[in-house]
Amino acid sequence: MKAPDSAAPDSAAPGSASVLDGKAVADAIAERVAERVKAFSLAPRLVFVRVGEDPASASYVRSKQRLARRVGIRAETLVLPEETDQATLMTQVQAVVDDDDVDGVLVQLPLPDHLDEAPVLEAVDPDKDVDGFHAVNVGRLWSGLPGMVPCTPLGLEAICDHYEVPLHGQRVVIVGRSNLVGKPAAALLLRRHATVTLAHSRTRDLAAVVAEADVVIAAVGRAGIVQASMVKPGATVLDVGMSRVDGRIVGDVAPDVWNVAGAVTPMPGGTGPVTVAMVVQNTVTAAERRRQQP
Ligand code: GUN
Repeated sequence: MKAPDSAAPDSAAPGSASVLDGKAVADAIAERVAERVKAFSLAPRLVFVRVGEDPASASYVRSKQRLARRVGIRAETLVLPEETDQATLMTQVQAVVDDDDVDGVLVQLPLPDHLDEAPVLEAVDPDKDVDGFHAVNVGRLWSGLPGMVPCTPLGLEAICDHYEVPLHGQRVVIVGRSNLVGKPAAALLLRRHATVTLAHSRTRDLAAVVAEADVVIAAVGRAGIVQASMVKPGATVLDVGMSRVDGRIVGDVAPDVWNVAGAVTPMPGGTGPVTVAMVVQNTVTAAERRRQQP
């Protein structure tokens, strides 16, 4: 494995494992995306749709929009009030999707409880679906066809590639079976010839399953579900989970995993920034395909 960046934040690295610095990976991706944007006579355009004032969602969308603008993408956010009904949301999303000047559309999740996410995600044109959540893109991913791939799994792959963590023939255990992360990560890493196990919070003897892994992906959203006693010494551990404990944001990986693993993504500064970078990468990919740019 390539030596991890020494400039990584040491506050997040209490043990002997190396830090997989997501910020460094995200910066490298953003630089490459900015170069691709320069090839367009009219910059790609990305529209975020956000409903309500959930502070975490607002903050995620702000950081995605900020990075999009930094790389030269035209990015804007349509903010709808919390009390928006399903029909109004569908009409608004459809109008954005139908705008020929728009290359990418991202509806931030979760939506407020009274709204049904599935029809909204299906209203997005699969070729503008920078989240890769449309059923057509899910099918394309599992079939090995070109399509839009969800950003967090793409980010996990990018972290492994940046730090030269091997995937081919390796045992990858994913803990968490969400549509956003676990399931698409399984499809993506199968494509890279990993041997993938998709485990979850109800997996019997989760410790024994995780102990097999050369690469562990923790994506349940339950603080500390991956413990040091489960992890094979030297394994690579990627932490996607996020929960609030005593007012602090923590991941799914317990702090003592840093004493056993070979390399770990910190929280914050690990998988999160790379997910954001993949939103802008997907936007440029969508625009290139739509407009048949080089
Ligand atoms: N909410 C949490 N993660 C995501 C994501 O990757 N995409 C969208 N649209 N909403 C999210």
